[in-house]
Amino acid sequence: MYYETATNDHGLPHDPLKALVAPRPIGWISSLDAKGTPNLAPYSFFNLLSTHPTIVGFSSATLKDSQRNIEETGEFVCNFASVDLIDAVNITSKHVAADIDEFELAGLHQAPSRLISAPRVREARAHLECEYLKTVELPSAEGPMVWSLVLGRVLAVHIDDRYLKEGLVDTLAMEPLTRMGYMDYGVLGGVETRSRP
Ligand SMILES: Cc1cc2nc3c(=O)[nH]c(=O)nc-3n(C[C@H](O)[C@H](O)[C@H](O)COP(=O)(O)O)c2cc1C
Repeated sequence: MYYETATNDHGLPHDPLKALVAPRPIGWISSLDAKGTPNLAPYSFFNLLSTHPTIVGFSSATLKDSQRNIEETGEFVCNFASVDLIDAVNITSKHVAADIDEFELAGLHQAPSRLISAPRVREARAHLECEYLKTVELPSAEGPMVWSLVLGRVLAVHIDDRYLKEGLVDTLAMEPLTRMGYMDYGVLGGVETRSRP
């Protein structure tokens, strides 16, 4: 099949695009609002964008609590979402009032960060402590929704030592939870290794 995004006339019951750019890593973003209320939500329009400087980014469809908090407080944590935490990840995507603590909602615990005030998810196997860099508003010609790309600089990295094997992170053992299309989450199936030519 073929369709053009200007009309989005794919004729399918659901937009297929997110099932094609998949699997996507999940940035499980924790932040604090200006009053100190914790916030936690998954973002799969998320990635590591560069190293040295080490920049991560996620896109927010409309201004949500995470983006608002990060712009107000200047900091956030990207928590590693693993398969065992699928239900907690999913629950924290619930649209709730800003004063609801999604850590409590999902039965998760907070762990303090070292360089910033925003808390980490204690149950997560790795964490990136980040300082807010800037927001890039994405052009909205194709629809009514305003998307923003929120960028942050990674200040510090936490890795659960159990997943370090002979100096390498065993990503497969960490069982990253990924996002695919529709309501689907992905689980890594294996690793293939090649030296770079
Ligand atoms: C796995 C998953 C990935 C998501 N990725 C995004 C995303 O990249 N951008 C977005 O705007 N919403 C995304 N959402 C929806 C948000 O998590 C949801 O709107 C949430 O309530 C936002 O919370 P906040 O207002 O506390 O930031 C995703 C939901 C799930 C379940």
